[in-house]
Amino acid sequence: MAQVVHVKNIGLRGIPVADTKISFIDGEKGVLIYRGYRIEDLAENSSFMEVAYLLLYGSLPKKSELHQFDSTVTPERDLPFHAVQAMKAFPTHAHPMDVLQACVPMLAMADPDLRGEDRDSHVRMAIRLIAKLPVLVATWGRIRNDQPVLEPDPEFSHSQNFLYLLHGKPPSDEMARALDVCLVLHADHTFNASTFACREVVSTRAHMYAGVAAGIGALSGSLHGGANTEVMKMLLELRGEEDVEGWVKKRLDQGDRIMGMGHAVYKTMDPRAKFLREMGARLAEETGQKEIYELSLAVEKAALSEFERRGKTEIKPNVDFYSAPVYYMMGVPLDLMTPIFAMSRIAGWCAHIIEEKFAEAQEKPALYRPKAEYVGEYCGLMGCTYNPPDERQ
Ligand code: ACO
Repeated sequence: MAQVVHVKNIGLRGIPVADTKISFIDGEKGVLIYRGYRIEDLAENSSFMEVAYLLLYGSLPKKSELHQFDSTVTPERDLPFHAVQAMKAFPTHAHPMDVLQACVPMLAMADPDLRGEDRDSHVRMAIRLIAKLPVLVATWGRIRNDQPVLEPDPEFSHSQNFLYLLHGKPPSDEMARALDVCLVLHADHTFNASTFACREVVSTRAHMYAGVAAGIGALSGSLHGGANTEVMKMLLELRGEEDVEGWVKKRLDQGDRIMGMGHAVYKTMDPRAKFLREMGARLAEETGQKEIYELSLAVEKAALSEFERRGKTEIKPNVDFYSAPVYYMMGVPLDLMTPIFAMSRIAGWCAHIIEEKFAEAQEKPALYRPKAEYVGEYCGLMGCTYNPPDERQ
């Protein structure tokens, strides 16, 4: 074997692996675009239903199309009986991301389009997943606390319905709108780790639910979607801390990361974080929870100045840094923060899965099959000598 050259551990950073028409990021300028539209414009003016339509169909819906889409999604909120029964048998300490990942194949088992090989069947599966994921999350939130399972209310919007199912009472209009904007902001983000996982799985011609289950697994990690829960744990640990600057410095000196900061693509502030920081200010005012919000501002300030001192000026808050206090102010338990991310990203995952499976011939990606550099034991192409166990040194 030629001399071993270790592959630089860059995690495929900057290496294009497919074409996509779904979203675009300019990491230097802090720009995120879904199907041509700036994220700020969508967050300000749109709704999650409209954005889900945009991601799936490629253009913004006309009023009648949006109405039609909404009335197709809403009746799909019900869960299969076997999924609810299975959740009742799960240990109550099960992490909601594990529950979500386990339940997605149970949705597959009930989907009449599972074996469909055309785009329309996939759009119908996507609609079911978009409708059912929030219900799965909220239903697990109730089952584990021994609370009665509630039926989705077709009179409520997508975001209203989730907060109603979770808390057992209808949310205020402001709260429902705030959640809806969070869902808009998290709906897609090009080839992030979880989206790539979805696309990689379906590139084998596995079905949509298999891809989504993989995406949920990838999202759960603390370097990806799991970071929002870690941010909140960090903020709660810091409550009452007088010396936030000292805490940040100590953490960095120990080689620990400040969760919710830094990004593989953004080298400036994540545009979603800017939006969430402003939303946090409004929610802090409305809910009277200024302490936690002000603490997050103090951590941001201390961390940015410490990163600057260390010559790491590119590390800035990402989407998880402010989504964590925002969800906390909405009364969301810490371990349901990442599942909320999944409830939104499902729209992007499904759009990517459809693109992966049905792109035009010249754009169609191949089965993903990267190469690894073998750096293990090697005794030539004949292989090492196999000795029976009792003859081994
Ligand atoms: N706190 C402290 N140091 C950091 C942080 C951070 N949050 N992020 C990066 N660094 C440092 C690393 O320690 C490393 O330092 P070194 O060169 O001295 O060893 C350097 O910056 C580069 O770090 P990488 O992990 O190689 O760089 P990358 O920019 O690709 O990392 C990542 C991106 C993994 C998101 C990182 O910033 C991180 O771990 N952040 C905290 C977790 C987090 O918030 N994840 C959510 C990301 S957004 C999302 O997935 C939805």
